[in-house]
Formats: sequence, structure tokens, C-alpha cells
Amino acid sequence: MNPDNNIHKRTPIGVFDSGFGGLSILREIRKVLPQYDYVFLGDNARAPYGVRSFQLVYEFTLEAVKYLFAQGCPLVILACNTASAKALRSIQQRDLPQLDASRRVLGVIRPTVEKVGELSRTGHIGVFGTPGTIQSGSYDIEIKKLFPTFQVHGHACPMWVPLVENRESDGDGADYFVQKDINALLALDDQIDTVILGCTHYPLMLDKIRKYMPPGVNIVAQGGIVADSLKNYLTRHPEMETRLTRGHTCEYLTTEDANRFSCTASVFTGMPVEARHATLQP
Ligand code: DGL
Repeated sequence: MNPDNNIHKRTPIGVFDSGFGGLSILREIRKVLPQYDYVFLGDNARAPYGVRSFQLVYEFTLEAVKYLFAQGCPLVILACNTASAKALRSIQQRDLPQLDASRRVLGVIRPTVEKVGELSRTGHIGVFGTPGTIQSGSYDIEIKKLFPTFQVHGHACPMWVPLVENRESDGDGADYFVQKDINALLALDDQIDTVILGCTHYPLMLDKIRKYMPPGVNIVAQGGIVADSLKNYLTRHPEMETRLTRGHTCEYLTTEDANRFSCTASVFTGMPVEARHATLQP
């Protein structure tokens, strides 16, 4: 019997990010898997996470996961590299067995890393991320597990998330920072031929990034990769797939002001969004 149907009508897929960036992942997931129900949760009140300590990112992410479980989600995607880097392993190994061992929390780093082997010819990979993701070394560690000979260089872009959160990703300020950060990354290793956008906010600046990235360098945005990986996961895990309701709906929750979130989220999703406020608790 479906354990979730006893309590909740909807058993959606939960998608979590610190802010608006996760909408770039959700959009691609819904293109590939439109049939399911979704709940998106943005912790906009406490974004950005990228400059916060391991402990805080872990605590905030765990609160979000618990909240999404309480909304009936049997499966939660951390559509946030910072949370995936700093909190996913602890939640999977330490918290999940106590909270509900039948539910799952998945991240975005592993599926992204699996993809770079197909793209890179030189084996020299660049990673853009938040200071937290870059300092964690998560991409370096995960890439080397799969491709031990690869060279990985990371560069933190602390200004990119605030530019997106403040809807300045199309402005002239974005040009300045994108060009500066691309130059800084490529100066670390002139053989880099594949650059991972290791923050879910960054695809929202893709036009600017394309403008300044030299031709021939692959730019890896995660949305499509995470979507394909989720589809594959659900095919391999029918016990999870059959728990998900198929109502084609999407609910948006934010820890910030709901109207404020709705206005900006609509710009990112290209369709009207009517969000609800959520209060996360320890
Ligand atoms: N979008 C998130 C990520 O993928 C985090 C951005 C932030 O809150 O700093 O890392």
C-alpha cells in the first residue's frame, strides 16, 4: 500500500533551494517529468547560503527537508549546490534513518559530475560556485572519484547570486562581474575546456556567461542534467515512482514575503506564480 496516501492527497516531489536558483532546475525537471506534482521551497529570507558556515547550511537545509516531508513529499531534490555540498551527506546518513527511512533526499552535484566525462577532451575542468561550494572541494572530490586523472579548478563568484536575487542578472553590473570571474578561472589553467555552473542560480545568467566565455569551452548548466538523472532514478526505483501523485501541479513556497517572491519567480518561470509563505522550524 502507498504509505503516503493515508495522510496526504498529494505526494509531490519537493524541490528546495536557498532562493530563486532552484527554479532553473525545477523548470527543466517539469519539462522532462510534467506528470508529477511538485512543491518548490525557496528559503529566500535566509539566502544566500553560499557565504554561510557548514553548520548553518546543514541546519537550514534540514529544516527545509523536514518541512517538505510534512507537505507529503516522499522525495526531495536539493536544487542547490551549496546545500548538496554541505548538508546532503549528513542528512542522508544521519537524519534520514531517524526521520523516515523510506523517503529520499537527492542532490545536484553527483549527476553533474557524471556528465563532464562525456564533454571534456582535455580533462581540465573549471567550476564556478558559491564560496561555500568551492571551499567544500565537493566538485574536486566527486570528479576525481569518477575521473582520477582530471584536473579541476574552482573559482567562487560571490556576486553572482546577489545579482540574480536582486534581478540584476541582465544589467551592466553583471557584465563586469561575469567577465572578471571568467578571466580569473581561465587564468588558473588555460587547458580548461569544460566549465560547470556549480550553482543553480547561474543558469539565470547564461546569456552573460556565453557572451564572455571563449568559444569552444563547454558550459555545463545543471537543469537538464538533473532532470534526466531524476527520470533515470525513478525508472530504477519503482517503489518511489509509484508513491508520487500525478496531478501536473506545482506549488511555490517561500520563507520571504509571498507576493515579493511571486513577482520575481514569475520572471524566472515565464508564467504566473502564486506563492505561499512558509515558516521553517528547527
Ligand atoms: N543556488 C544555490 C547553489 O546552487 C545557492 C546560492 C546561495 O544561496 O548562495 O549553490
